Amino acid sequence: MNKTKVLMVCLGNICRSPLAEGILRHKVDTNRFIVDSAGTGNWHVGNPPDRRSIAVAKKYGLDISSLRGRQFTSIDYKDFDHIYVMDSSNLENVLALADGTNDRAKVSMILDTLFPGERVDVPDPYYGGDDGFERVYKMLDEACDIIAKRIS
Ligand code: 4NP
Repeated sequence: MNKTKVLMVCLGNICRSPLAEGILRHKVDTNRFIVDSAGTGNWHVGNPPDRRSIAVAKKYGLDISSLRGRQFTSIDYKDFDHIYVMDSSNLENVLALADGTNDRAKVSMILDTLFPGERVDVPDPYYGGDDGFERVYKMLDEACDIIAKRIS
């Protein structure tokens, strides 16, 4: 049986989406699901997650230190079944590479799971303090609980 593939997308692929990747992977059966992440920007291609994302993940028992940044491309539309973006700017950038309604239907804002239709952003914690990463972790953990139930 083909595995269902889920992609998490943010801007840099070093703060929010690697956390979302690690959190969701931990909640699903990896025999049936593939979870990955990417950034719309290319500044951090090949880099590990931000040390603050690695630290908050570790605090909750997840090791995301081996993940490496990569850039979202239109090929991801062919590879993935569900694409979750962190904010409305990611949404715009990802949809700009969509080819048709089938591609577009794969994309949603991750916090739509918790606040349907409200277009709530996962705030970018990059320029803030450690507490921002803790808040992001909690939001993503709640959202991924719902995603895991929906797709399992
Ligand atoms: P992320 O955070 O999109 O959650 O990975 C960012 C990380 C780096 C940059 C922007 C956002 N940056 O501009 O380098």
